[in-house]
This record gives sequence, C-alpha cells and structure tokens, in this order.
Amino acid sequence: QDDQFKKVISHAKEYGYVFQSSEIYDGLSAVYDYAQNGAELKKNIRDYWWKAMVQMNENIVGIDAAIFMHPTTWKASGHVDAFNDPLIDNKDSKKRYRADVLIEDYCAKIESKIDKEVTKAAKRFGDAFNKEEFVSTNPRVLGYQEKINTILSRMAKSLENEDLADVKALIEELEIADPLTGSKNWTDVKQFNLMFGTKLGASAESAMDLYLRPETAQGIFVNFLNVQKTGRMKIPFGIAQTGKAFRNEIVARQFIFRMREFEQMEMQFFIKPGTQQEWYEHWKETRLKWHLSLGMGEDNYRFHDHEKLAHYADAAADIEFKFPFGFKELEGIHSRTDFDLSQHEKFSGKKLQYFDPEENKSYVPYVLETSIGLDRMFLAVFSNSLQEEELENGTTRTVLKLPSVLAPVKAAILPLVKKDGLPDVARKIIEDLKWDFNVVYDEKDAVGRRYRRQDANGTPFCITVDHDTLEDNTVTIRHRDSMEQERVKIEDLRDIIKKEVDV
Ligand code: GAP
Repeated sequence: QDDQFKKVISHAKEYGYVFQSSEIYDGLSAVYDYAQNGAELKKNIRDYWWKAMVQMNENIVGIDAAIFMHPTTWKASGHVDAFNDPLIDNKDSKKRYRADVLIEDYCAKIESKIDKEVTKAAKRFGDAFNKEEFVSTNPRVLGYQEKINTILSRMAKSLENEDLADVKALIEELEIADPLTGSKNWTDVKQFNLMFGTKLGASAESAMDLYLRPETAQGIFVNFLNVQKTGRMKIPFGIAQTGKAFRNEIVARQFIFRMREFEQMEMQFFIKPGTQQEWYEHWKETRLKWHLSLGMGEDNYRFHDHEKLAHYADAAADIEFKFPFGFKELEGIHSRTDFDLSQHEKFSGKKLQYFDPEENKSYVPYVLETSIGLDRMFLAVFSNSLQEEELENGTTRTVLKLPSVLAPVKAAILPLVKKDGLPDVARKIIEDLKWDFNVVYDEKDAVGRRYRRQDANGTPFCITVDHDTLEDNTVTIRHRDSMEQERVKIEDLRDIIKKEVDV
C-alpha cells in the first residue's frame, strides 16, 4: 500500500502533474502546485462536475463568490466558535498532533490485528471459511471490536462535551506514544481554530481582521436571495460553485489528500422544510452515479453514514473512495436544515426568506449540500488510473488509464521518422485537431518508446504518420488501454476521438 502510494506521488511529479509548492526552497508542507498536465486534469474534473451539476440541471445555477468575506460571516456560520481541531503537544519531542487522530491511529492498529486473525483463519479453514461468520463469532475478534467501539465512542462523547481533560486521560490510559520518538509525556489538549487570518486595509488602526474562507458554501448562503430574485428561481433550486478554500490542517501527510490550500466543488440545494429526507436520498444517489459514470470500479466506493454530526447538520454521509491508503472520505452530502440561512438572518438583521407561491407563505428554506474536494477527486482519479501491466512478451508497462474525458492530452501525433515530409503531415493534423482537443507533437525516440511515454502520461490515442500516409491519407491510431492499432483516414480522426472523449 505504502509502495503504491509512493509510486503515485513520484509519477505525479515525473510526468508533470503535481509538484511540491516552492520546491526550490524545500517546499511548504501540505501545499502543492499543479503542473502542465495536472492543471489540465484538474480543469477537466472541474468541467465534468460543472456540466453534470449546472449545465444539465435547469434548476441549478453557478456563481463565483469572493474568497474574502465579511468577518461576521464566520461568526454566523459557527466557524469562529466551532471549527476546531483538538491538539496535543509532546513535551519531549515538541511535536504537535491532533489528539483525535492519535486515538484513531491507535484503533487502526487494533483493526489490523483483526485483519491478521482473519487472514490466519482463512488459511486454516480454506474454502470453508466464511468471513462474516468468523468476525461475528470469534471471541478474540469480538474483543478487539468492542475495545475499538468503547474507545471511539468515549472520544466522540468527550469531544462533543468539550471535555478535553478526558481526551488527554484517554491518551494516557491507552499509553499512546509519540509516533516518532516513543515518548508518552503529553501536554493538555487544546482546541485550535483551523481558519487562516489576515488583514484588510493599510493602516494598523483601520485594518479589519479577515479570514480566508474555510469552505466555499458561505459565499452561496449570503447570495441566496440575490440569486433567487435575479434568476427568478423557484424552490427546489440549487446554487453551485467551485473555488479555493483554506484550512490550517495539522495532520498533513497524505500528499494532496489533505492540503492547507485546496479547491472545493459545492452545491447548495434549497428546499421546502420537511422534504429534506427525500432530497438527502436523492442527492446521495445522484452523486454516487456521477462517480460511477467515470468507470473507476463500483467496488472502490462506499457510503459512510455519520453518527457524529457537524454543528450545522441533521444528517450526513460521506462517499468514501478506496485510496492507496484505504477507504477515505471523498465527498460529503449534508442535510444542513435552515441552520446557515437562519444564522445569517440573525447576524445580518436581513430577512433571507423565500415566498412560496404554492403555499402562499414565506419561509427560510432548508438546504441539502453536496461538497467534494477537487484535489481529493484528482488523487482518486490519478491513483486509481496508475497501473503496472504485465505484457504478453514478458515486459511490463506503466500506464495511466485516466478516463478519456479527463485526460490532459487526448492524442499525440507522431511522425514515424523525422524526414520525408512526415513531420509536415503530422503538424497539419495538429493544426486541424487543436481546435477541438488538446493534442501534442512528439518526434523524439523510436515510436515504441513514444507510445510508452504517452501511456504513462495518460494520453488515450497515439496517431502515427508513416510513408503510406503520403500515398493514401491514412494513419495508424493506437488505443492506450487495449494497445490495439487500426488504420484510419485522416479525415475521420476528429470523429473517432470525439466519440471517446466527449461526455
Ligand atoms: N461545506 C461543507 C464542507 O466544507 P467538509 O466535509 O469539511 O464539508 C468537504 O469538506 C470536502 O472538501 C471533503 O469531502 C473533502 O473532499 C474536501 N476537503 C476538506 N478538507 C480538505 C483538505 N484539507 N484538503 C483537501 N480537501 C479537503
């Protein structure tokens, strides 16, 4: 697992997808830059989302709100008071950790003991082994499971009650050690707000304290009435947006999975109070379908229904994806009730209500939210696509099987040799195709090596111009995944590519 993840990170760098930010200064932790291919992949994911959410839905419109918002926004939203991580320092190593993550990691170790028991038993019983029955009856496994449940529910309760002394007590009772040094000398647990602060205005006296937004959602809530009125929107309707969000994350060790500067793609769906349950189910299903439409394997997704809810939600579920380090949250679907709009009414003194012509009355709408991290989606797509394949001739090839609709480059045009006019024909094909697709020209190295380079880059098609092309205007088109080649007319290229890369 670790090895696969390391391969993902180094491939992302080697092929111009993701670089460490400010690398020449040794980088900045949990901040990354998207390189020439990464920027294209990211844009294509964003467009794929936007098309499904905004373009395809008559009752959803898109906006682009500012990153800076009036500071009262974050008091109203609850982020000033409730957007915290519980942190603990080790007195010897002076390292800082998230207390809840230390405890969760401890539980993950117990969970791996369960996995070991299962593997052992599976070997012992062979074909007769029934995993479900084993984990629900084996006393040792049940003991481990109970221990995990007890620890996690105590932690959840203590965090909910702000009983930080008990969180520390739990860490001490479990004898959790600093993962780096083994020291068990801990400070008290303290809440730490995740928002980045900054200042607006030139002079020290008049400057206003601002936050960089930790979610894009609030830009939608504060514009709710403006959009509803100017767009003459009728409930139910949605407002979507994509954009940067910032969180001062403490545990930042999983590449672009958890970043300090990241991008969200969020949609707030405004509904009649009382209909939230049906819309919650609707959006859970709709969003899962969107993921499955990319063809990355049904088994790689699962729902996780939340028991512990964020301060704004009455129901919440994650769509989890199987990353190289296991199943983790990719997208959240939250039933936010009228929490946000009511809070903004209270703090702004302005009415944020909808007049429902059918009901002949005004009310504060309820909200269903879908929220996905664009960078996290990038990691899901990229890590799932990176494969090593054993070929029939005994060699292996590295291939990035990106869904064609998302691939940064759709086709590479390759003259077989650098002479006899073949480069000119290849250039002409590029001049024609570039109006519709991102295409590249490559004439360096033997054609087999160029194919491999494009495979590793994720390019779905290679188009080779050879001497026959000069005679009959045909070229060889090679498909990345099957490696099959066919001879086609130059004039048919556009349609062939379009069929595969268009949604
Ligand atoms: N408006 C609701 C909201 O922001 P969230 O669960 O905190 O909910 C939504 O975040 C999504 O944003 C997550 O499912 C994840 O994909 C992404 N996300 C959150 N924090 C992130 C981080 N530090 N780095 C990358 N993506 C992040």
